[in-house]
Amino acid sequence: MLEANDENIAWPAPGLWPRRAAKEYIPPHAVLLFGATGDLAKRKLLPGLARLSESSLAPELRVIGTSLDELDDGAFREFARAAVEEFGSDKVDGEQLSRFLEKLRYVSGSGGPQALRQAVADAEAALGEDARRLHYLSVPPRAAVPVIETLKAAGLVDRARVIMEKPFGSDLESAIELNARVHQTFRESQIFRIDHFLGKEPAQNILAFRFANGLFEPIWNRNFIHHVQIDIPETLGLENRVGFYESTGAYRDMVVTHLMQVLAFIAIEPPTALEPRAIGEEKNKVFRSLMPIDPRNVVRGQYDGYRDEEGVSRHSDTETFIALACTLDNWRWAGVPFYLRTGKRLAEGQRIVSIAFREAPKSMFPPNSGVGTKGPDHLTFDLADASRLSLSFYGKRPGPGMRLEKLSMQFATSDTDEVEDVLEAYERLILDTLRGDHTLFTTAEGIESLWERSIPLLEDPPSVKPYAPGSWGPNAIHQLIAPNAWRLPFERVWRGSH
Ligand code: BG6
Repeated sequence: MLEANDENIAWPAPGLWPRRAAKEYIPPHAVLLFGATGDLAKRKLLPGLARLSESSLAPELRVIGTSLDELDDGAFREFARAAVEEFGSDKVDGEQLSRFLEKLRYVSGSGGPQALRQAVADAEAALGEDARRLHYLSVPPRAAVPVIETLKAAGLVDRARVIMEKPFGSDLESAIELNARVHQTFRESQIFRIDHFLGKEPAQNILAFRFANGLFEPIWNRNFIHHVQIDIPETLGLENRVGFYESTGAYRDMVVTHLMQVLAFIAIEPPTALEPRAIGEEKNKVFRSLMPIDPRNVVRGQYDGYRDEEGVSRHSDTETFIALACTLDNWRWAGVPFYLRTGKRLAEGQRIVSIAFREAPKSMFPPNSGVGTKGPDHLTFDLADASRLSLSFYGKRPGPGMRLEKLSMQFATSDTDEVEDVLEAYERLILDTLRGDHTLFTTAEGIESLWERSIPLLEDPPSVKPYAPGSWGPNAIHQLIAPNAWRLPFERVWRGSH
């Protein structure tokens, strides 16, 4: 099937290409990381910055961590060392890690804007005259505006880009307000609204697969596609993120963000170019054609025991699980249901998009041949790191007579020689920000459209149904998708996995 990284493929723009073009110059950067002792910094940002700063892709970096915790440089370096060792050790060796740690400093939030300004000035003095600034706001939505104001008070707006974490606002009103407040300080060209699913290699492969091949695009519409599933169950619980999650829930944390961005890549019309405006325009059209989310087509769940966790209200109505059906009212997709599901403490951790094609007439095959009994033909994208793709179809079982069974063609990036080139999603997106490339970032207009389509659900959410940890969610998920069925758990495992 796909030949990954075929040298003959002419990529039209550097936007989706991981290698730094030979002559591309990226100035050195002082990176100011807000929320530096948080979960995201620990799991992804510090390991990612360590790998980038030690690779030939990124320029010289100095990283200043800040948060509400009172730490000194030494304690922060120890925190970062533990984070990289636990979550990124396969990417940097001991020597590289020590070099990276020397580039770290910490400023406690209590030092105010003055302390941040001084730390950035020191970093810039070391980096040279053309140093630029990257501010990473790894903070919950309510903290975004205070951080922006701190940056303004510290005089750190010029020569700066700012990465803002999702969710961007918590509903339409707050997203509009947040956008207006951010624009009082930063120009739109300085703002990078991150959704790390767009930085995942397999998510970008959806675009390559759809638009670089003549085979599938002609059948990529309501005439051939019966329904689509975007299914992202997690085994992970909330660990120390309860404070963030209790006021967020699965819909805001995952659906209006990651799952909808993936939906957009599946559903967009061919963009005229691989560049931010063209892709943003097409994605916004998808979001505008999304029908408002009808609470009757939504199952909200909460795992047993959630209300007993520290920091959670005994009467909490926060959903730790959500499944919903939605539709796009446009010529390509009218009448094709998109089923979305995600949640915490579920049976398996998976990230799949599954396209179910319309079924063939079955009458020519003898009774009991098995035709159609294993569901429709499917194209499945696995958005997990192995980055797999599978096309399943009926074929003849060898031997006399005509017995049919499900077969599949599969591809995995991890089988190619280029697997080492894969950048982790945050690495990719931080690098794109250093380069000033907005292609894989979300736009204010798109986010606002999504919040607008969410109003019926946010105003009148169905009450949460309990589910057992380790299950696939409340029973109502089966009624939601009937007469279709969830692909997960898979009947057949991926080839090569155990
Ligand atoms: C984050 C959510 O954005 O994405 C988390 O806040 C979730 O709740 C995570 O676990 C999933 O990302 P990934 O890359 O591990 O699939």
